[in-house]
Amino acid sequence: MPIARREAIGPGEGIIQVHSKTKALMARGNEFLGSDWAILCGAMSWVSERNLVSAISNAGGFGVVACGAMTPELLDTEIAATRAMTDKPFGVNLITMHPDLFDLIEVCARHKVSHVVLAGGIPPKGSVEAIKQGGAKVICFAPTLALGKKLLRSGADALVIEGMEAGGHIGPVSTSVLAQEILPALAEEALIFVAGGIGRGEAIASYLEMGACGVQLGTRFACASESIAHPDFKKAFFRASARDAITSVQIDPRLPVIPVRALKNKGAEEFTAKQIEVARLLDEGAVEMAEAQLQIEHFWAGALRRAVIDGDVENGSVMAGQSVGMIKTEEPVAQIMATLLDECETALGARQAA
Ligand SMILES: Cc1cc2nc3c(=O)[nH]c(=O)nc-3n(C[C@H](O)[C@H](O)[C@H](O)COP(=O)(O)O)c2cc1C
Repeated sequence: MPIARREAIGPGEGIIQVHSKTKALMARGNEFLGSDWAILCGAMSWVSERNLVSAISNAGGFGVVACGAMTPELLDTEIAATRAMTDKPFGVNLITMHPDLFDLIEVCARHKVSHVVLAGGIPPKGSVEAIKQGGAKVICFAPTLALGKKLLRSGADALVIEGMEAGGHIGPVSTSVLAQEILPALAEEALIFVAGGIGRGEAIASYLEMGACGVQLGTRFACASESIAHPDFKKAFFRASARDAITSVQIDPRLPVIPVRALKNKGAEEFTAKQIEVARLLDEGAVEMAEAQLQIEHFWAGALRRAVIDGDVENGSVMAGQSVGMIKTEEPVAQIMATLLDECETALGARQAA
């Protein structure tokens, strides 16, 4: 029998809830984010734009605009458009190696964005300070305990630890191991959000009990009704099982490949063939190393857009985490949030009753 009760669900209506155990364990995360629930929808390039982001925040979660490769002008427009669709707080995700990072930080400051998430590597010198000067809180990704400590010392206000079950660019360690390494060491004095492979509320309950102040999900929200992802992208998600969400494989040590988790398709096979071909050209001296590495790096350029926007799920990059197997149908964000909260609350209640 579900312990939690839900009274009103509907896009834009938010959720009237009685999830008191979840609320208590998320209290620090809720206060930090200014949202009802410390459930971030991790930024997903092309997917996390005004519609999905505002829907997440309106449903009581915390939406994050994916800046990706946007210009400062485009980001300016997107933040304004998102703000027009929600009066709730939302964040902006900036990629650390973006050539205009500091201009993007300025755009966020001009719009008084409350939280900036820095993704894609160690924040460059001065970036954390610049974000804070602009009045926003800074959230960073911590790939190891040592780096997590360093990021907190450098001014990060909160950390996300993300395991390799996640969709998109990933590190080598699983969520369960990162959580065991990092939460007992840092979660008491710092705000830690756990990400990667979370598909149900029972998993949220576990990480909260281990000390996390909240969680971040991407795959679970990517195909919500409010997501603008192409219907074929969504269908590919509904058909897939966990084992279809594979990581890109590096064939040759001379040709580095940044691991990305996405659904296996023709594009992934062609990427393997491309690496073999370029390695052969290198062996034959037909291409220089720099040119060879560039060819590999550029293979996936524009591939996520092809999948998400054009619906080319055969040749594009259908980034998805291993939790994809739990997603079978399109649902409004408010419904997904309500389900996650019900599952979390029920799990917490069952354990306390035992
Ligand atoms: C389609 C897709 C695109 C993503 N793009 C980004 C991105 O642009 N920046 C980023 O920091 N993370 C990106 N991510 C990672 C998510 O923000 C989130 O951390 C991740 O999806 C959480 O793990 P899960 O997929 O297992 O829920 C992406 C994930 C997906 C599925």
